[in-house]
Amino acid sequence: MEKVRASATSQPKAVLFDAYGTLFDVYSVGLVAEQLFPGQGQALGQLWRDKQIEYTRLVTTSNHGTHYQPFWQLTQAGLRYACKRLKLTLTPEAELQLMNQYRHLSAFPENRDVLQALKARGITTGILSNGDPEMLGIAVRSAGLEGLMDHVISVDAVRKYKTHPEAYALGEQATGLRATQIVFVSSNSWDALAATWYGYRTLWVNRYALPFEELGTQPTRTGNTLNDVLGFFPAE
Ligand code: LAC
Repeated sequence: MEKVRASATSQPKAVLFDAYGTLFDVYSVGLVAEQLFPGQGQALGQLWRDKQIEYTRLVTTSNHGTHYQPFWQLTQAGLRYACKRLKLTLTPEAELQLMNQYRHLSAFPENRDVLQALKARGITTGILSNGDPEMLGIAVRSAGLEGLMDHVISVDAVRKYKTHPEAYALGEQATGLRATQIVFVSSNSWDALAATWYGYRTLWVNRYALPFEELGTQPTRTGNTLNDVLGFFPAE
């Protein structure tokens, strides 16, 4: 009896996923970048991503958020900066091609099965992302995941990017659950760390054998693919 009660209270009730790099593979963006700028695709992809995230922090922490811009615009600004920094000429056509690629990312192959398995176990599912609602809507539809997500949550609702606590709080508000009852899944180590600090149970999906952040806190669990989230929900 005790055991049943303990497991009933300890099993999480929902899973929220980060989007870019976690559900959607940004690798194809690097491929297009390499075609456009041979020998520089990887450097461009990395700098672009780093700048995009840096800009989210810049607009969230400065001047009480008055410089907020949606993720799509910050992504475009990050691309323009990265090209200038690498001394690459970004024609309007090349920009369109790269930005379009960002809109239509492919999903990692295991996503569908994992989401279906979660639904079969009665678990609430969703996305909690920096992406703006339009970007997320297109990504979810092009990956064919719309029937498998109960919530698609964009931080645009509070105009503050992760890792601001108000951004993470949206997950609790949408599901009506406490963070301790939710598993937050991210491939971005900084996101997995900050979600852990916020109070979520976390899975860091370390797809590329990277080190975790060195700030003294570990994610609840670490895995290699989204399949590892099923470990939080042992089959009855
Ligand atoms: C997101 C970025 C951080 O989807 O990957 O929120």
